[in-house]
Amino acid sequence: MTIGGTGVARPSGGMWSAAPVRPWSPWALEYARDPERYVFGTAPSDWAREVVPLVRHGATVLDLGCGEGRDSVFFAELGAAVTGVDLAADGLDKARRLARRRGVRVRLIEGPMTGALPAGPFDLIFSCGAIHYVPRAQRGRLFRRLAAMTRPGGHQAHVVFTDRLVHEEKGEIVDYFTAGELREAFVEWQVLRSGEQVISCAQDGSVHGHSVEELVVARPMVPAPRPSAP
Ligand SMILES: C[S@@+](CC[C@H](N)C(=O)[O-])C[C@H]1O[C@@H](n2cnc3c(N)ncnc32)[C@H](O)[C@@H]1O
Repeated sequence: MTIGGTGVARPSGGMWSAAPVRPWSPWALEYARDPERYVFGTAPSDWAREVVPLVRHGATVLDLGCGEGRDSVFFAELGAAVTGVDLAADGLDKARRLARRRGVRVRLIEGPMTGALPAGPFDLIFSCGAIHYVPRAQRGRLFRRLAAMTRPGGHQAHVVFTDRLVHEEKGEIVDYFTAGELREAFVEWQVLRSGEQVISCAQDGSVHGHSVEELVVARPMVPAPRPSAP
């Protein structure tokens, strides 16, 4: 599987830090370099293709760190009502143009995924190579919030970089997930798919690998019963 590259957010950014610093992504620069060139291409990622069975016509989908929109537009073409969120205005401009060219509508929000988001509920909350740019200290709160935004019986699907094989590029600062960390964010959810692998990337001009963890989970229809007191 290829994600298509790496990215970054400065670790102190986001709405929950005491002294907020605007989150930053080098992908904004990459997207702006050539307005005609799609850094990650316009075909959907392999990860988006994997979750197609979860995207029925009319489903509501949130794409976190949607970049230039290759996956958001793909989900919209499947008939979903898609919201894409990204820090990078130039990426979102390309996403908007791609959607227009393909004749679909995608709602695009500029800002950090830890910032203002629609309340949902969403049938699918999806991310491809983006959540590892959110500092770990902010991720617990992000995942709790995303859980509440997922419709009971709905799904989340994420692929994130892990610390098993690190290749830093483009001056990135990534808060790598540790083994099993992503899975731990979804205790009590049904795991439909969970795995680790090394993906190939050549965004910095050299072919290299990144270790990733993938997870597809379903939110229980009813909360699991609490263990009774002894
Ligand atoms: C490696 S790119 C992947 C883009 C897209 N998901 C794709 O696969 O084509 C990571 C994206 O996450 C965005 N990003 C990084 N940190 C973010 C944050 N805190 N909130 C929202 N987007 C963020 C970047 O701007 C970038 O577009």
